[in-house]
Amino acid sequence: MANNKRVTLITGASSGIGAATARRIAGPGECLLLHARGGVDGQKIPLLEAVAEEARAAGATVHLAISDLGETGAAAALVTDAVDKFGQLDRIVSNAGFALNKVIGEITRDDLEQSHRVITGAFFELIDAALPHLIASDCGRVVAVSSFVVDQIPLKRMFPATAAAKGAMEAMAKTFAVQVAGDGVTVNCVAPGFTEKESAGHSALSQSSWQDAADLAPNQRLAKPTDIAAAIAFFLSEEASHITGQVLRVDGGLSLT
Ligand SMILES: NC(=O)c1ccc[n+]([C@@H]2O[C@H](COP(=O)([O-])OP(=O)(O)OC[C@H]3O[C@@H](n4cnc5c(N)ncnc54)[C@H](OP(=O)(O)O)[C@@H]3O)[C@@H](O)[C@H]2O)c1
Repeated sequence: MANNKRVTLITGASSGIGAATARRIAGPGECLLLHARGGVDGQKIPLLEAVAEEARAAGATVHLAISDLGETGAAAALVTDAVDKFGQLDRIVSNAGFALNKVIGEITRDDLEQSHRVITGAFFELIDAALPHLIASDCGRVVAVSSFVVDQIPLKRMFPATAAAKGAMEAMAKTFAVQVAGDGVTVNCVAPGFTEKESAGHSALSQSSWQDAADLAPNQRLAKPTDIAAAIAFFLSEEASHITGQVLRVDGGLSLT
């Protein structure tokens, strides 16, 4: 039976796009499990707590989870956590990630595998563990945050390990979209262009490179995290029930250049 409660799990919610998504969807009836790594030694946990406070002030019920998604089982444990805390899980935003600005000859096998663990591996664990809960939901939604780096190399900024991991995630998302379409679950990707970083974010570019990146987009600006969060929120909505298996670029036209 339909209920008004919506439970959403957002990974990487301590800053940037994940935090903007949490703020965007927070409201009465919304239950949020907000996740982050908390920085390498926990120094960023207060950032996640601050996002949680904002979401609670907007009327959401919020729980926090801290874990490194590079560790096997960490993403699946988030699903268990969400269901334990809220009794259901309707929507997943697989957002946590990072860009590795190293070219072939510099990246190691371990670098490549770490990108796959944090990006593709975590996405796999999330959808694998959440499968019965998504099917049971009357509004099952999965949104994966991919990247322009999958098929674009503007300014010759090369992120081969990130591109490989995000590309694999997109491919898995499309396959999963078909698997669960008959159950009313949608699965989509949002591919941001260059997006403003909060000072606490993980930046792979220098300050001058960010300015160059802004000038490159036809609309001559970087995306704001809220621009990306708006697209994610749309895919999460009931209105988007007939859209699945898509990759939506939110890039100010960068992909047209
Ligand atoms: N900004 C851009 O230009 C851009 C462009 C294309 C795609 N994207 C994608 O958008 C997503 C969000 O990026 P953003 O710009 O909002 O970055 P951000 O502000 O640096 O946020 C990244 C989030 O991911 C978490 N995270 C990173 N590594 C993790 C790990 N090993 N385990 C668990 N959590 C981890 C971080 O946690 P802690 O900080 O707590 O450690 C943080 O909450 C990423 O997947 C990124 O690849 C960004």
